[in-house]
Amino acid sequence: MRSIRHLLVFLMHLSLGTFAERFSNGYYYQDIVNGNGGMYFHRIRLLVESSQPLVSAVQGSNVTLPCHYRYEPELSSPRRTRVKWFWQPEPVHGGLQERDVMVAIGTRHRSYGDFKGRVRLRRSAPGDASLVINPLQSDDTGRYRCEIIDGLEDESITVHLKFRGVVFPYYSHRGRYLMNFHEAKEACEQQDAHLTTFEQLFAAWEEGLDWCNAGWLADGTAQYPVSVPREACGGTDLAPGVRSYGPRDKDLDRFDAFCFTSSIRGEVYFLQHHSKLNFTEAGEACQNDGGRIAKVGQLYAAWRFVGFDQCDAGWLADGSVRYPIVTPRINCGLSEPGVRSFGFPPKHLKNGVYCYKVRW
Ligand SMILES: *[C@@H]1O[C@H](CO)[C@@H](O)[C@H](O)[C@H]1NC(C)=O
Ligand SMILES: *[C@@H]1O[C@H](CO)[C@@H](O)[C@H](O)[C@H]1NC(C)=O
Repeated sequence: MRSIRHLLVFLMHLSLGTFAERFSNGYYYQDIVNGNGGMYFHRIRLLVESSQPLVSAVQGSNVTLPCHYRYEPELSSPRRTRVKWFWQPEPVHGGLQERDVMVAIGTRHRSYGDFKGRVRLRRSAPGDASLVINPLQSDDTGRYRCEIIDGLEDESITVHLKFRGVVFPYYSHRGRYLMNFHEAKEACEQQDAHLTTFEQLFAAWEEGLDWCNAGWLADGTAQYPVSVPREACGGTDLAPGVRSYGPRDKDLDRFDAFCFTSSIRGEVYFLQHHSKLNFTEAGEACQNDGGRIAKVGQLYAAWRFVGFDQCDAGWLADGSVRYPIVTPRINCGLSEPGVRSFGFPPKHLKNGVYCYKVRW
């Protein structure tokens, strides 16, 4: 590790607020009214706005992408407008081309492809063309464009949808710094998660993630987030931030992993059982209860999004023993909320167990 410490690149991106401002689009057109043999021209403006150009949500939940339109000056009678939503997936998912999500004219609407049956317009008030997606699926992130078509004219705004998730560090049961990129990717996937993007790790650092072991990110770099600079963690000379070793050799270099999960499709619970269990018995006990032993990502998601708090050490599917704490208290570990880990104890030892059941 020492030999590459001097390659350390210090990254701080403080410009993530770019989506924060509200924006609107408008155009002017001529509205032709045929009166008593005469023709009158009015200047009417169609305005399309979004109150929230950046939306983040948890996978498995429902989400509303805001889009409103109105006319200036206000119209005395409603016009026949068509609402169309498009979607451009994230570039990492090969998303260059816009795809149709839905089109609505009056009360009639039609949805397309993967969105069929999962999308509708909110229509909570005149001019409300907000898109409701329910439930949100794993590939739904990206840019959504709300287009209002009035006659030959159209106006649109864009809403960016991201997953709200939780980042967790992960190392192999064989020990620390033992996974190359491919193994790290697989390790996250086995925990119902994915390798973290830099943006996700940065957001986690902003929320206080402090971890002194470098882990792989989805882009093939190895990085780690530091809130409190310290000697054992790259030194005290550097400011807090996400520290990067830059791109590494995906086959030869070995680190831990940073995984990201955004899924609340199922329920995680601590199994009530009359006795403590070894690892084999733990897996069987969950099956007998109609579930299966929970994965690390599932426990993190339950802790973070459902407020799961349980002061009992329990087995997880990878052979680790952990427990989730939302409200720190005496005898329940450290002073901060988090998922405590006891690493990978010998499998004959007796513990509780966390199980998982799918809700749909
Ligand atoms: C959508 O989610 C909200 C909470 O965010 C919930 O109150 C509501 O019931 C959900 N609606 C549907 C249709 O699931
Ligand atoms: C757990 O206990 C069972 C007996 O209840 C035994 O058959 C099994 O081998 C034990 N597993 C481990 C990993 O020690």
